[in-house]
Amino acid sequence: MAADAALQWLLSNQQASVDRLVDWLKIPSISTDPAYKGDCQKAAEWCAARLKELGFSVQVLATGKPAGAGHPIVLATIEGTKADTPHVLFYGHYDVQPVDPVNLWHSPPFEPLVRDAAAGEEGGKRVVARGAVDDKGQVMTFLEACRAWKETTGHATNGVKYTVLIEGEEESGSTNLDAFVVEHKKALSECDVCLISDTGMLGRDKPAITYGVRGLAYTEVTLHASNQDLHSGLWGGRCPNPITELSRVLAQLHDKKRRVTIPGFYDDVIPISKKERKAWAKLKFNAKAALKKIGLSGKADIGEEGYTAMEREWGRPTAEINGIWGGYTGKGAKTVIPAQASAKVSFRLVADQKPSKVVKQFFKWLEKRTPPGCRWELNDLHGGYGVTVPIDSPHLEAATRALKKASGKSASLIKSGGSIPVAGLLKKELGIDTIFMGFGLDDDRVHSPNEKFELACYALGCRAHVLYMDELAGAKKK
Ligand code: BES
Ligand code: MN
Ligand code: MN
Repeated sequence: MAADAALQWLLSNQQASVDRLVDWLKIPSISTDPAYKGDCQKAAEWCAARLKELGFSVQVLATGKPAGAGHPIVLATIEGTKADTPHVLFYGHYDVQPVDPVNLWHSPPFEPLVRDAAAGEEGGKRVVARGAVDDKGQVMTFLEACRAWKETTGHATNGVKYTVLIEGEEESGSTNLDAFVVEHKKALSECDVCLISDTGMLGRDKPAITYGVRGLAYTEVTLHASNQDLHSGLWGGRCPNPITELSRVLAQLHDKKRRVTIPGFYDDVIPISKKERKAWAKLKFNAKAALKKIGLSGKADIGEEGYTAMEREWGRPTAEINGIWGGYTGKGAKTVIPAQASAKVSFRLVADQKPSKVVKQFFKWLEKRTPPGCRWELNDLHGGYGVTVPIDSPHLEAATRALKKASGKSASLIKSGGSIPVAGLLKKELGIDTIFMGFGLDDDRVHSPNEKFELACYALGCRAHVLYMDELAGAKKK
């Protein structure tokens, strides 16, 4: 079997493959911080150079208005050699989350460290760096699979037609992706299916295909009171304290059953089906053990009443306060009533909720609760639709077979509470479904200090992509 040679190549070239990943991880491509704009460009070009080596036709395209205001998108294609096989769109992102709090990193976030598990850590050898698993390491599993095919057969995707789209704004809301997809609608709609490696597994040796992710609506709200900061002795008790008032309002977001209180919030929610609840229960997810890993006791298993932890993460919408600030937060004490207080408030959404509708409902809810004499400044930052894909499509079945061959284990079908805005966008604009074949672990510290990707997961990803390309070469276009 041709795949055997490619798999063997992966085995014999592991070190070089890790070295290439390390090289990419050194570029601090933090998309949300303008200070790293040049590094985002560099990370895009790094990826473009690898794709070129592999034989793809590659473009690094400016995004935003005016052109170049956003971070570039890498768009690449490789023609197939076999008639009538599916055309796959591989999506990933080269941008990463900010590194703060930087003092909690044990090694510098952009000086990737390959090391064994430390005492008390599960798992094996890993690479520690920002972006290790989210998403550079996972994009590399695809690129290294291409390299294996290229080295052993001369064609990077085993003769299957691929389009590759690697964006640089996923971690900051994919702001310019909508316009890009619309602009390249014609070319992108030729793809039969989208493939993304940016999700996780159920555990070590528990490979999984994710068949749904949640949507997101992200807002920032500021409550303005007086036109100046005030002495809290002279003014306290005489006028609104915006921090107190904002807290009072936000404390009303959930009722006693921990349901979101915004009128209409659940109107478009499709309930979790009996079949899904049954299937998820069979996965035997241990909610209490998961809590223990993050330093919480079993008592902390709280959330919307009537649902298990897994149901709450995969199938129910939530409201979260992601940040709240105002007044004096420096060292020591300062007796002040500030002029304003702010919060970042986001919502995870499920089918068929619409991000813009939820934001409208939330802002209306806030306006109704405006504290006397105060005013709101309300900002809709970004959002994205959730998606659920059919679990009986030939594409998903091919991915499941590939993952089984790669790991020796049957892959579970799971969902994720996280969001990947492009999937909803591709479905809405082009009608394309997405296969999420990801290789992360629960304890990879995604978005946190000391993010890591275990080399066993990296290797599994490379093998799975090799075998997926093998499956596709024998498949017929739908
Ligand atoms: N890769 C993650 C999403 C993810 C992680 C899905 C683990 C499933 C398992 C992605 O990069 C991410 O962080 N998305 C953001 C959304 C974005 C709009 C900021 C998220 O989910 O918060
Ligand atoms: Mn990601
Ligand atoms: Mn992320």
